[in-house]
Amino acid sequence: MKLILDLDTGIDDAMALAYAVGSPDLELIGVTGTYGNVYTKVGVQNVLNLLEMMGKPEIPVFLGEKKALTQDVFVRHEVSARIHGENGVGQVELPVAAEHASQMDAVDFIIESVKKYGKELVIVATGPQTNLAAALNKAPEIKEIMGKIVIMGGALTVPGNVSPYAEANISKDPLAAKILFESGLDVTMVGLDVTQRSQLTLEDLQAWKNCGTLAGEKYADMVAYYISQHEHSGGTACYLHDPSAAVCAVHPEWFTMLPMHMTVVTEGEAAGRTIGDPMKLREANPNVKVCIGVDSPKLEAHLKEILMRAFLG
Ligand code: BDR
Ligand code: CA
Repeated sequence: MKLILDLDTGIDDAMALAYAVGSPDLELIGVTGTYGNVYTKVGVQNVLNLLEMMGKPEIPVFLGEKKALTQDVFVRHEVSARIHGENGVGQVELPVAAEHASQMDAVDFIIESVKKYGKELVIVATGPQTNLAAALNKAPEIKEIMGKIVIMGGALTVPGNVSPYAEANISKDPLAAKILFESGLDVTMVGLDVTQRSQLTLEDLQAWKNCGTLAGEKYADMVAYYISQHEHSGGTACYLHDPSAAVCAVHPEWFTMLPMHMTVVTEGEAAGRTIGDPMKLREANPNVKVCIGVDSPKLEAHLKEILMRAFLG
């Protein structure tokens, strides 16, 4: 399966990246960078560094949108700096990549790739969906041929994580999510309903630390930092937000999905809330497959196996 990852890298984005690198079922044709956990440029540099460290410097990386569709400027939230570290990778120092970001813009790369590969191509987006919405706005004709899109974002049956209503990725650009949901495309929503059910523990990191590669060691350090920021577990385990979306692209059968007509609240106190569209309750052909259950033991074991493959190279 050909894959584009759209990331705001971010520690759990970095795990999704390692999953894509290690999976024998995925051919990562490019990574597009967006803003969110960090500024776009920082996230892209993190991806370049991580790819080089995992022995994949040839995978192209593209700079994407720097702010939400209707925003003048994106200002990074202090909570992101706390959860992912000032540098986005848990204050871990990564070897600096020799490669640079591609000259081509992320939105153009998405459009070109869809035109080239059509439904063979899957896009997994684990930051705000601005790059995707911008691609649909710029080249609406790609909708006719576009394949599956899997996003990490939203919450249906649980509260949000940045407000009682909203999950972080959707909250940063609710309009982009709305555009995507209402596009008629094959969209799967991997939201907090499932991403908070799967975890990695400090114990799991021992194997990475001892695997004998720099990638294993640095990932163990990054995720240890991330775990330390998870109060729910007393700093012993972290949620698996972004890697769950990557796994869902390959193993949708491990998820329980509720096809629904989804929309997004774009303004006011509940901005960013993902909710069943009250105007479409009687309509057929729901527009989003909302993940509401997951076989966590399977997902966790599989993720650990594939990440180890990536670390061993
Ligand atoms: C999402 O927000 C970001 O902090 C994570 O990388 C993930 O994509 C979770 O709400
Ligand atoms: Ca993310």
